[in-house]
Amino acid sequence: MASQNIYILGIESSCDDTAAAVIHNGKILSNVVAGQDIHRQYGGVVPELASRAHQQNIVPVVHQALQKANIDKSQLRAIAFTRGPGLMGSLLVGTSFAKSLAYGLNIPLIDVNHMQAHILAHFIDEDGFDKPEFPFLGMTISGGHTQIVKVSSYFDMEVIGETLDDAVGEAYDKSGKILGLSYPAGHEIDRLAQLGNPKAFHFTKPKVDGLNFSFSGLKTAILYFIQRESKANPNFIKKHLNDVCASIQYTIIGILMDKLKLASSQTGIKHIAIGGGVSANSGIRRALKDAEQKFGWKTYIPKLEFTTDNAAMIAIVGYLKYLEDDFAEQNVMASARLKI
Ligand code: KG4
Ligand code: ZN
Repeated sequence: MASQNIYILGIESSCDDTAAAVIHNGKILSNVVAGQDIHRQYGGVVPELASRAHQQNIVPVVHQALQKANIDKSQLRAIAFTRGPGLMGSLLVGTSFAKSLAYGLNIPLIDVNHMQAHILAHFIDEDGFDKPEFPFLGMTISGGHTQIVKVSSYFDMEVIGETLDDAVGEAYDKSGKILGLSYPAGHEIDRLAQLGNPKAFHFTKPKVDGLNFSFSGLKTAILYFIQRESKANPNFIKKHLNDVCASIQYTIIGILMDKLKLASSQTGIKHIAIGGGVSANSGIRRALKDAEQKFGWKTYIPKLEFTTDNAAMIAIVGYLKYLEDDFAEQNVMASARLKI
C-alpha cells in the first residue's frame, strides 16, 4: 500500500491557526500555518475574530500547501479535516471547506480528532525522529489542552488524566499577563526562567487526585503573591522577574512530571511521547531527559512544527485512516466537544 502514490490534504482550523498540509504516503511535503495576530491585543483567543480570520485565510493557505508540495489538486486521494474538539465557529470553516473540496474533486473525506492528531503526529516520517512503540503514554500540553492518554494502537486511545480547569499553556499565558508580559507568554517565561533561581519563591502545587490536573488555583496564587509583593515594593516584578519566572516554571514542570510518573507507575508504561506547544519548553525537555536516566523511560518529542497546532498532524491521521478505508460521510458535523 505504502508504495502507492497517496497524496492527502490535511486541514486544521480548530482554534486560531488556519493550516493546511500535504502528505505523500507518510512524509510531509508541505505544512503551511497562518497564525492570527489579532488576538494578541486581547490577551487570548476571541472566537468570533478567529472564525472570521479562518474564512479569510483558508483558500490562500490551502493553495500555498498544494503549491509548496508541487502537486495539483487533481492528484489528491482524500481530504482530511479537524472535526473537533475546538471552537465551533472555527471548526465550521475548515469542515465546510473540506466537504466542498472533497465533493468537488469526488474523493473521500476523512474526519480527524484534533487530540488524536497531536499524538499521532509522532508517526510522521521524519529523519532523526523515532516513532513511539505501543503501548505508550501521550501527554498533550498546549494553550488549549492538558491530557495524558494511554495509546495501545493508532486508534485505541484512552484518556487517563486531564485538566479540570485551565490548560497548562493557559497557566503560562495567564501568569504572563499578571507579570505584564505579552500574549502568548510561555516562550518568554521559559526564556527568563533560565536566567533565574527556580527555588527563589514557593508556589504550592494543587492537590488533585489521580492523574487529573488543575492549574486555576496556581494562577490565583501567583496573582495574590504578585499583588502582595508589589504593594510592599512597587518595583518587585522588575527586580525579581527572572526568579519569579523560574519559580513558576519549576512548579508547573513539577506538576506535569508528578502526574507522568504516577501514570507510568500505574500503567507500567515507560514510553512517553509529548506534544502541543508547551513541549517546546526547556524545563519539560530537561525533565524528560533526566527521567530517561533515572527511570529508564524512552521519551519522544516531535519536531516543533508538528507539535504546535498544524495540519501535518491532521494529514498523517488522514493517511492512517485512508489505509483503513475509514472515511466520513458528507453530512458529518463539526463537534466542539469531540472526545478521544
Ligand atoms: O499548541 P499551541 O501552539 O496552540 C494551542 O494552544 O493549541 O500552544 C500554544 C501554547 C501557548 O499557551 C504558549 O504560551 C505555550 O504553548 N508555549 C510555551 C512555550 N512555547 C509556547 N509554554 C512554555 N514554554 C514554552 N517554551
Ligand atoms: Zn492543539
